[in-house]
Amino acid sequence: MPSFTVFKGSKDGSIKKSQTSKPELTGDQVLIKVTASGLCGTDMHYRSGDMVLGHEGVGVVEATGPNVKYMKKGDRVGWGYEHDSCGHCHQCLCGAETYCNDRQMYGEADLDQGSFAHGAVWREAFLFPIPDGLSDAAAAPLQCGGATVFNALFSYGIKPTETVGIMGVGGLGHLAIQFAAKMGCDVVVLSGSDRKKDEAMKLGAREFIATKDAKELKVPRPLDRLLVTTSAQPEWEKIIPILAPGATIHPISIAGGNFEIPYMPLVLKGLTVQGSVVAARDVHRQMLDFAALHKIEPIMEKFPMTEKGITEAMDKLDKGEMRYRGVLIPE
Ligand SMILES: NC(=O)c1ccc[n+]([C@@H]2O[C@H](COP(=O)([O-])OP(=O)(O)OC[C@H]3O[C@@H](n4cnc5c(N)ncnc54)[C@H](OP(=O)(O)O)[C@@H]3O)[C@@H](O)[C@H]2O)c1
Ligand SMILES: [Zn+2]
Ligand SMILES: [Zn+2]
Repeated sequence: MPSFTVFKGSKDGSIKKSQTSKPELTGDQVLIKVTASGLCGTDMHYRSGDMVLGHEGVGVVEATGPNVKYMKKGDRVGWGYEHDSCGHCHQCLCGAETYCNDRQMYGEADLDQGSFAHGAVWREAFLFPIPDGLSDAAAAPLQCGGATVFNALFSYGIKPTETVGIMGVGGLGHLAIQFAAKMGCDVVVLSGSDRKKDEAMKLGAREFIATKDAKELKVPRPLDRLLVTTSAQPEWEKIIPILAPGATIHPISIAGGNFEIPYMPLVLKGLTVQGSVVAARDVHRQMLDFAALHKIEPIMEKFPMTEKGITEAMDKLDKGEMRYRGVLIPE
């Protein structure tokens, strides 16, 4: 019976070390020894939950169930936000299993395990081989953050001739800048202050705009597409004037409240609002290959995978001081 250490949230937000035991492996289940986990902004929403945290996992296959076909002991694999889906509905059959009605996702299903752990058991069908060009630590933040921004860009018809705005330079945003730049786009970064300007430019931005104190935003070229990766909803009315006619807004932030946007500009400018979650498996695999080919990697701050290390990392992210993705490494 596999048994491993896990780290959970708790009511007062403190991180608790615990132990999870699983039955013997059945079907296409794979036992993984975790080697790295990213810390995503979404984990902050679950810190006070009685559940194992983390959904940007990378590790090495330790053992395989009787029906595992493609993975073997020693392989490097990753997993993200979605653990399973029905496999039979329209969404599953057309490669959009992230929208399956029976999807099993972080925060809702399998609360006894996550990537803040020394081990995990997942279905082979929902694991991703890690390309040779990516280290375990660098691959971890791609399992949710990277997949989410790549999906928003790649799955909705982006063209290399577009001017793409990336709003928010955090874990997701700093990867989005790199993906959009390598896709050939003209990248404009919008960030609260000037503090992250130098790094954003190095990552591939052509323009950088500080938004917080600006009454009115000014961009060199109207944006054909805007990815919003801030941890709260922006002031949408400030954004409308910098969008090109026919532009698409991709709100990605997990945030409360209604989506309130000036109505007539939406109609008269022919704007599209496109929500999305992580990435379906086919897109996720393409994202990993694209990242390995173009050497797209997170800028990381590493922490030990201990109660203290996780607490430090979460506190740092909470204060807005992470540059730019925390990665936890089991000791
Ligand atoms: N849709 C999905 O499937 C999906 C998947 C993963 C994550 N998410 C969500 O995406 C968001 C970003 O995640 P992340 O991991 O990149 O988080 P993060 O590392 O904390 O980055 C968020 C960025 O938002 C800006 N920001 C911080 N506090 C803010 C505030 N109060 N108001 C406005 N902006 C603020 C900062 O950028 P600047 O300093 O540049 O302004 C910060 O770096 C989170 O809401 C997360 O839950 C969604
Ligand atoms: Zn389904
Ligand atoms: Zn995430």
